[in-house]
Amino acid sequence: MEHYKGLVKRLKDRSFRLVVVGGGYVGLPVAVEFAKRGVKTTVLDVDGRKVELINAGKSYIEDIPSDELAPLVEEGKLSATTDRHAYRGADVVIITVPTPLDAEGNPDLSYVLSAMNALKEYLHPGMLISLESTTYPGTTDEMVDLLEETGLKVGKDFFMGHSPERINPGDPVWKFHNTPKVVGGVEPLSTDLMVRLYSIAVEKVVPVSTARAAELTKLLENTFRAVNIALVNEFAMISHKLKVDIWEVIEAAGTKPFGFMKFHPGPGVGGHCIPIDPLYLLWKVRRLGLDAEFIALADRINKGMPDFVVSLLEEALREEGRDLSKEKVLVVGVAYKKNISDTRESPAYRIVELLRSRGTKVLYHDPYVPQFMGLKSMPLDRALSETDTILIVTDHDNIAWDLIGDKAGIILDARNALRKRGIRPLGRLVVL
Ligand SMILES: NC(=O)c1ccc[n+]([C@@H]2O[C@H](COP(=O)([O-])OP(=O)(O)OC[C@H]3O[C@@H](n4cnc5c(N)ncnc54)[C@H](O)[C@@H]3O)[C@@H](O)[C@H]2O)c1
Repeated sequence: MEHYKGLVKRLKDRSFRLVVVGGGYVGLPVAVEFAKRGVKTTVLDVDGRKVELINAGKSYIEDIPSDELAPLVEEGKLSATTDRHAYRGADVVIITVPTPLDAEGNPDLSYVLSAMNALKEYLHPGMLISLESTTYPGTTDEMVDLLEETGLKVGKDFFMGHSPERINPGDPVWKFHNTPKVVGGVEPLSTDLMVRLYSIAVEKVVPVSTARAAELTKLLENTFRAVNIALVNEFAMISHKLKVDIWEVIEAAGTKPFGFMKFHPGPGVGGHCIPIDPLYLLWKVRRLGLDAEFIALADRINKGMPDFVVSLLEEALREEGRDLSKEKVLVVGVAYKKNISDTRESPAYRIVELLRSRGTKVLYHDPYVPQFMGLKSMPLDRALSETDTILIVTDHDNIAWDLIGDKAGIILDARNALRKRGIRPLGRLVVL
C-alpha cells in the first residue's frame, strides 16, 4: 500500500509531476488543463517542432489559443521535451500517442509500443500510467504484461488504467474539462487512482470496473456514430433515387421528441476516430472467431460516399451536356470536418483522387489547410473566377459562402452548407 498511499497524497496536494506523452490534438489540451490547475506538467513528444512551439508559448491546435498556453509556459507550469529522461521524474504518465491502422487495415500499435518500451526503461515504484489512446479491449492489460517484465507489479508497485479520450476538436461547448471522463483501472487501486487523477481536471469522472470496459466504452460510442452516419448516408442514396430531399426528411423526423436522434449525411467520414476505431474492434472480434457485421457494413457504406458524391456531380454535369473529365472543379473544404485543419482520413482525398482519375482539373479552397495533395489553397474569389463547377466537401464557418451563392454554375453541396445558411444560389444547386 505504500506506493498507493504516496500517490494518493501527491494527487491530493497536486505535488505530482505529470508527463503527457504525445502533444497532439488530445495531448496538448490534456496537458494545458492539468497545468492550469497547478500541476507541473511536461509534454514529451518525438516531434521537435511541436516541442519548440510549446516552449515558445505558441499553440498549433485551434482549440488552444496561444494566450492560454503562453502564461502556463512562462510560469513554469508547462514545458515540453523530446528527451525520454522525462519519464524518470514522473509520478503520473498520460499516453496520447496515435493509434492508426496499418497498410492492411489492422491496428497499428507501434506508437503505443514505442512509448511503452521507452517508459519501461524508467518505470519506478509509485508511478500511475493512464493510456488514453483509443484501442481494442485488452490493450492496457497487454501493456501491463510488458511493464511487469521489469519485475515491478501492478497494483503494488505501479498502477495503470485506461481512460478513453472524448475530446471533440472544434467543439465550442464540450471541452476536456466539462466532458465526463470514463476511467477503468486494471485492478481496483488503479481505478481509484485514475478517479483521483482526472477529478483534478475534469468536472465529472465515471469509473468502470476494468480497463477493458473503458476501452470498449469508447468503441461503442464511436461505432454508434459510424453506424448511424452510414444509415443516414444509405438513406441519402435511397432518397436521391426516390427524388426526395433527405435533409427535409431528417428535419421532419427530428421533431419526434423521443426515440430518434438526428444524424446527417455527408461525403464520407474522416479524422482519427470514426473511420478507424470501429475497425480496431472488428479486428479484435475476428480474432475471437466472431464477426461484427454492423461495423463492416458501416465501413463499406461510409467509404463509398466519395464515389457517390463524384457520381452525383458527373450526373448533374451530364444533364447539362457537360463532361466531368473536361471540367475544372473547385473543391471547397478539405479538412475532415468543419472549423479545424485536420485532414487525416478526410474524404476529400478520395474525392480529389477520383476527380483526377477522370482527368478533371482540381482547385481547392480551405482557409484552414494551406496545402493538400500537391495543391495550394486558392483565395476563394480567384478560384471562383476560374470555374463555376463547385463541390462543397467541408462547411467551415469562415468560408465566404455568399460569394459561392452568387456564382451561376453547378454547385454540389455534400454538407447542405448553403441552404443551412439561408443562401439560395444563383446557379444550380445539387444537394446530397
Ligand atoms: N483527435 C481526436 O479528435 C481524438 C479524439 C479522441 C481520441 N483520440 C485518440 O487519441 C490518440 C491521439 O490522437 P491525436 O489526434 O492526439 O494524435 P496526434 O497525431 O495529433 O498526436 C499524437 C502525438 O504523439 C506524438 N508521438 C508519437 N509517438 C510518440 C512517442 N513514442 N513518444 C512521444 N510522442 C509520440 C506525435 O509526434 C504527435 O505529436 C489516438 O489514439 C486517437 O485515436 C483522438
